[in-house]
Amino acid sequence: MSWSRPRGRRAVAILTTVALVAASAWLWALSLLPASYSMASMGHPDYGGGPAEAAGPHGHSHGSGGIDVSTLVPDAGIPADVRVDLVARAQRVQLPGLAEFEGFTLNGRTPGPTIEANEGELVEVRVANENVREGMTLHWHGVDLPNGMDGVAGVTQNAVRPGEDHVYRFVAQAGTYWYHSHQAAHPQVTGGLLGALVVAPRRPTAGVVDLPALVHLYAGVRTINGQPGQVRRAVPAGTTVRVRVINTDPGPMPVWVTGASYRVVAVDGRDINQPDPVTGQAVLVTAGGRADLEVVVPAGGARVELAGSSIVLSEAGAPSGPAPRAFVDLLHYGRPAPVPFDPDAAVRTFDYAIGRGFGLINGRPGFWWTINGGLFPNVPMFMVRTGEVVRFRVSNSSGEVHPMHLHGHHLLVLSRNGVRATGSPWLVDSLNVESGETYQLAMVADNPGIWMDHCHNLPHAREGLMTHLGYEGYSSPYVVGGEHGNHPE
Ligand code: C2O
Ligand code: CU
Repeated sequence: MSWSRPRGRRAVAILTTVALVAASAWLWALSLLPASYSMASMGHPDYGGGPAEAAGPHGHSHGSGGIDVSTLVPDAGIPADVRVDLVARAQRVQLPGLAEFEGFTLNGRTPGPTIEANEGELVEVRVANENVREGMTLHWHGVDLPNGMDGVAGVTQNAVRPGEDHVYRFVAQAGTYWYHSHQAAHPQVTGGLLGALVVAPRRPTAGVVDLPALVHLYAGVRTINGQPGQVRRAVPAGTTVRVRVINTDPGPMPVWVTGASYRVVAVDGRDINQPDPVTGQAVLVTAGGRADLEVVVPAGGARVELAGSSIVLSEAGAPSGPAPRAFVDLLHYGRPAPVPFDPDAAVRTFDYAIGRGFGLINGRPGFWWTINGGLFPNVPMFMVRTGEVVRFRVSNSSGEVHPMHLHGHHLLVLSRNGVRATGSPWLVDSLNVESGETYQLAMVADNPGIWMDHCHNLPHAREGLMTHLGYEGYSSPYVVGGEHGNHPE
């Protein structure tokens, strides 16, 4: 009888192994993404506790049917006030003081030309892709433009293949923005397919010197407008300078000023109401985010420090100093002002809970980011109706910081970890969410379409930290993958 036991055990062991292999093969197969799929039908609709979509011939937009988002564009009859032609190229890039690297240019340079406009003007940008093999697009980061102009491959357009071109048109909103490819975004943004967009307000303050500072790491070297190290702007003492800091890198960047105090006059293209002067504190600019710093240059000059590179505002030198340990808390910065909607009138609250878990994404095992417990593409699609006030509760228990970016809208920050905002209305399109933090945000769903809502540490987006905000009754004719090879991240 003693022989039967090991044999029985062996049989059990074999069966268990077979079952485990079968189960993992099944899970692996389940996790595979199809060769092409619609972003709009990805995951499961999440109504945030509000009314679900009406069933019926036109009711169900989660997938196909409904208004085609590519038709959401400014009236073709409006003449362009600002016209820009860009040529995108994959090439070896030589920046001053840097080793040559394989990158991308627009009109032969990176960053691409700074596009300047005045508030209310119609901007028209034609981009021709000369030789970027994977195709490319231009996304207007932070601009709340019509969805058809959002430049996301596989969602609002097809990737522009070599030899093709594409026209973007939108009405300029005042503020500091940037543009970048949203096709194979991680390699293309890192490699330099980006530039600044600066829109002057209707009533600019006279005598202020405007200085865009697009910060980017090229091959590990931090640069300002493509220049490594120290950049100088020789301005006489007494000049007011508005430094428009744009963080195009994957991580948060502390910015501060030595030699003078400064005011944070705008964040993500939205003015701060009555900003207080800051000394001895840095402001943290999240990945993808912008902060406009106003500095009145004193006799001894001032230096804007951008975590490794700096801007000297002086005809001579400027003092340097240690990095401050304290940060401006935008939750309590500036003075309150009325907002054009009532956050308490929200009809939906969406949870965007970022975690981390073991699993398979597209057949690859890993310790991946999760959204509300699910791995991509098993993530929520936040569904709204035009005109609604909605809330988001964004939390992070993943152990790492995530710069969360919603396309096409600005979100009002209501609270962080239960502490209510008491300062100026703080509106963001890119929000630094540290591990352990929970933000309450609110917005008006006033810009129909299908909008990405993802982490702007672009490798994280590739790893599945990406979802969408969808408007009921709208759909996209584009697919991810497919014959155009659309891969937004
Ligand atoms: Cu700056 Cu979805 O991107
Ligand atoms: Cu992230």
